[in-house]
Amino acid sequence: MITTVATQPIAGQKPGTSGLRKKTPVFMGRHYLENFTQAIFDVVEAKGKTFVLGGDGRYFNDRAAQVILRMAAANGAARVIVGQGAILSTPAASHLIRLNKTDGGIIMSASHNPGGPEEDFGVKFNMPNGGPAPEHVTEAMYQRTTELTGYRMLEAQDVDLNTVGRSDLGGMIVDVVDPVSDYAALMETLFDFPALRALFAGGFRMRMDAMCAVTGPYAVEILENRLGAPKGTVTHATPLPDFGGMHPDPNPTWAHELMAEMMGEGAPDFGAASDGDGDRNMVVGRGIYVSPSDSLAVLAANAHLAPGYARGLAGVARSMPTSAAADRVADALGIAKFETPTGWKFFGNLLDAGKVTLCGEESFGTGSDHVREKDGLWAVLLWLNILAARKQSVAEILGDHWATYGRNYYSRHDFEAITTEKADAMMAALRDLLPGLPGREVEGMTITAADDFAYTDPVDASVSAKQGVRILFADGSRIVMRLSGTGTEGATLRVYLERYAPGPDGLDHDPQQALAPVIRAAHSLARLEEFTGRTTPDVVT
Ligand code: G6P
Ligand code: ZN
Repeated sequence: MITTVATQPIAGQKPGTSGLRKKTPVFMGRHYLENFTQAIFDVVEAKGKTFVLGGDGRYFNDRAAQVILRMAAANGAARVIVGQGAILSTPAASHLIRLNKTDGGIIMSASHNPGGPEEDFGVKFNMPNGGPAPEHVTEAMYQRTTELTGYRMLEAQDVDLNTVGRSDLGGMIVDVVDPVSDYAALMETLFDFPALRALFAGGFRMRMDAMCAVTGPYAVEILENRLGAPKGTVTHATPLPDFGGMHPDPNPTWAHELMAEMMGEGAPDFGAASDGDGDRNMVVGRGIYVSPSDSLAVLAANAHLAPGYARGLAGVARSMPTSAAADRVADALGIAKFETPTGWKFFGNLLDAGKVTLCGEESFGTGSDHVREKDGLWAVLLWLNILAARKQSVAEILGDHWATYGRNYYSRHDFEAITTEKADAMMAALRDLLPGLPGREVEGMTITAADDFAYTDPVDASVSAKQGVRILFADGSRIVMRLSGTGTEGATLRVYLERYAPGPDGLDHDPQQALAPVIRAAHSLARLEEFTGRTTPDVVT
């Protein structure tokens, strides 16, 4: 029984950096999920198509899955592959889309944002290549939400998503699959599992904090069951609808339990954390934090040590606010390098065209051409493979890296929940300032260039403008400022700070101290306190 339910457009259903994200009560509001889902199915012309469906297990994930399935059937989809319990990590969903050559997939997640009845929910469409829908597609979905008059709904009982197997939903096939096994099999093709087993058998200790989010079952299966890491290596391993009250964002602020353990007495050899939907990662050595920008650079320099990358890399891409550390590796290897706007979707074309093998962002995202999303556990396994092959500690590997390439001191300062008007006014004033900045001296450093980053995609020539203000200094230092595109409340100002030390001296300073003049320059140029009333950041990475 298929009915068309009359509806009206709901304002504000515009996907941001990574899908449509709203407070859960908004998503649970009358027709809200249904309208957006119908817009997706209209734009991708669902009839006869096959999709993947899964989410990170946050509150409303299970109910939303049933609604999306009934609507998929009502819109004539042929088949939906669903993770058992409606669970799929974002990288695992990307892999299933590619493995099964489906027409795309729907991921229910608000990534690293907290979950629960009063927290965040999100829905994102991924394309047949496994990557997030590009802007022209999400824009079409948004346009569709502004003109909808009805959505198609099948009247049916809930599908049993807890049992692996095939069932029928109004003529549509529903295949419930184990969310972990295909992903784990892919990891076995990329990394030297025997060497990793030997590493753990030799007494290597690690801590993986899954932050009560989706990575838990994946990490337990791969690290503990397949690689023999001691039981309990993975903590907060059970995905919970409210992530146990944790803020599942793997950075030093939110993964403070892991940080405390890794900086404390008797710390394990290696620590890692991942986010709500499993695409982000933070990596920590005993007593040493690895900035995501450095992590990308180290992975690029050493990826050939893992079987999946033994033939070398085609190129490396980083987002603009990510430090230039990876560029130095690319130059040394003689491979291509790319600088893209913030947002994983910008890597898709480069990966599809075979121009790059590795990608990374300062926002704790690293990945490769094995899927079309960033992949938290993949990054952890590549680090493990490198540690096993080099037989050195994280601190030694970083020390060697800086001695070879110099060190890009780097930090990001976030100022959260600023009122949107204040943040917009500050950015507007800063943009007005840009043309007059080159040649000016601040904090003893001379500005050489200042602009608002624009990107022309080398594959499809599409242009993305206004992607963040950059201020470059003669000594290689850099300030970048932009407003977050993933928040759901007010504005978050991100200030990215970078300073290059060529070495051999000055490679082991505290980053905040090394960056102090750059931080002061950022505050004075942007008149940060005057516009926002803030002096200290809420999050420092
Ligand atoms: C998500 C995207 C990333 C992006 C990050 C930060 O995780 O997948 O590609 O770098 O958000 O975005 P924001 O706009 O909040 O800085
Ligand atoms: Zn995420």
